[in-house]
Amino acid sequence: MGSYKISVIGTGYVGLCTAVGFSSKGYKVLAYDKDIQKMDSINEGIPPFFEPSLKELLQKVVKDNSLKCVPDLNEAVMNTDITYITVGTPSKSDGSINLQFVNQAAKEIGAILKKKQDHLVVIKSTVVPGTTEHMVKPLLEKHSDKRCGTELLLCVNPEFLREGSAISDTLNPDRIIIGEHDERSGNVLEELYKEFYHVNMPPIIRTTLSSAELIKYANNAFLATKISFINSIANICEKVPGVDVRTIADGVGLDKRIGRAFLNAGLGYGGSCFPKDVKALIAFSKSVGCDPVLIKAVENVNANQPYKAIELAKETLGNLKGKKFAILGLAFKPNTDDIRESVAIKIIDKLLEEEAKISAYDPAAMESTKRHYTNRINYASSAIDCIKGAECCIVTTEWDEFKQLKPENFKHMKTPILIDGRRIYEIKEYNNRLKFLPLGLGR
Ligand code: UGA
Repeated sequence: MGSYKISVIGTGYVGLCTAVGFSSKGYKVLAYDKDIQKMDSINEGIPPFFEPSLKELLQKVVKDNSLKCVPDLNEAVMNTDITYITVGTPSKSDGSINLQFVNQAAKEIGAILKKKQDHLVVIKSTVVPGTTEHMVKPLLEKHSDKRCGTELLLCVNPEFLREGSAISDTLNPDRIIIGEHDERSGNVLEELYKEFYHVNMPPIIRTTLSSAELIKYANNAFLATKISFINSIANICEKVPGVDVRTIADGVGLDKRIGRAFLNAGLGYGGSCFPKDVKALIAFSKSVGCDPVLIKAVENVNANQPYKAIELAKETLGNLKGKKFAILGLAFKPNTDDIRESVAIKIIDKLLEEEAKISAYDPAAMESTKRHYTNRINYASSAIDCIKGAECCIVTTEWDEFKQLKPENFKHMKTPILIDGRRIYEIKEYNNRLKFLPLGLGR
C-alpha cells in the first residue's frame, strides 16, 4: 500500500493512465473529471478509449477499490496528499495552447486548499514554459490564501507516455523530470517516485518549473524532427535509382549518437501530441522573440508528407475521379482507436475532394471514423473486404494485422496498385507477382 493518497484531475489519456498506474501498485487514487459520463464509465471498469491492457488493469483497480472517480473535486483533493493536474491543453487557432482548463483547475484546487496544509500540486498537463510559475502559482496562492514553498507545495512533472503503450510506459519510464518550485516540493515528489519504482527507479532530473515544461516540448519537437528529417531523405531517395530510405535509416541509425528509433519514413506523424506540441513551440518561440526556423521546417515537411501517397496514385492512375481506393488504417498509429490528426484522415479528405470512392478499414478505429465521416465513405468489415475491387490500396497505419497480408491477399483488387505508406511490406515478395505495382515511400 502506497503511503501517499493521490488525486488526478482530468481523466484523458495521461490522467487515466497515471491514475491506473498508481492504483495498480496499491495507491489509493481518487479521480475527478468534469465529464460525468466518463467518470461513470471508468467506475464501471470501462475505459473511455482503447489502450492495450488498460481495460484489464482498470477493472482490477476498480474492483479493489483503489481507484474511484468522485463527482466532487473537493472530495478528491481533501482526501488526498498529492493532486496531479492532467487536464487538456488544446490548440488555439494560432497554434498556441489554450490554458483555460489548467487555469480553472488551479483556481478551484486553490480554493479547496484554503482548508488544507502542505498539499502537493503537480502539473502533468503539457504547458509552455512559465505557465506554472506565472499562472498556476499565483492562482493557487490567491485562491488558497497560502504561499507556495511554505504552506503549499508545487511541481511540474511532464509525462512521456505513448498511446498504444501507455500503461507499460507509465510503469517503466526512461526518466523522471521534476520541475520544483522549491526543494521541499521536489523532495516530496521524488519520495513518491522512489517508493513507487523502488529498485526500478529510473534516472531523475530535478530542475526549475520552466525547464521541466520546456523539456517536454523539446522532447516531442526533437522526435518530430527525426521523423521529418528521415521523410526529407525519403523524398530524395525516390529520385535516386537503387536507393531505399529503410537501408539509409538502418545505416545512419547504427551511429550511437543518432539511434534507429523514430527514423521510420512514411506518411508523417499524426496524433494528439506532436502536431499540437510542435505548433505550440513555434507559437511560444515567436512570443519570446525567436524565429523557430528549424521547427517550422519540421512542420512544413510533415504537412506535405501525407499527400505523397496521392501524388504516387496520380502518377499511375491519372485523374482520381470515380477511382476506387482502399484505405488500410485510420488510427494515427497502431494499437489505438485515436484518429486525431491521423494521416489517413488527411488522405481521405483529399481523395474525397478529388471525388474518388473510398472503402476504409482499421482494426480499432472504425467507430470514431464512422462518427467523423458518416455515410461519405464505405466501411469494410476486414482488410480483405476493404481491398476487394479497389484500384489502389494505401496503407496508412502499420497494424500487425496488415503486416500479415501476403501478395495473394491483394488478388481481388481491380488493379493491383499498393502504396505502402508505412513501409511494412518486402518489395521482393511483391515484385513479379500478380503484376503487382508496389510503391513504397522513400524507394
Ligand atoms: C508522443 C511521444 O512519443 C510521447 O513520448 C509523448 O508522451 C506523447 O507524444 C505526448 O506528448 O503525449 P504518441 O503521439 O502517442 O507519443 O505516439 P508516437 O509513437 O510518438 O507516434 C507519433 C506519430 O509519429 C505517429 O503518427 C507515428 O506513426 C509517427 N512516427 C513515429 C513516424 O512517422 N515515424 C517514426 O519513426 C515514429
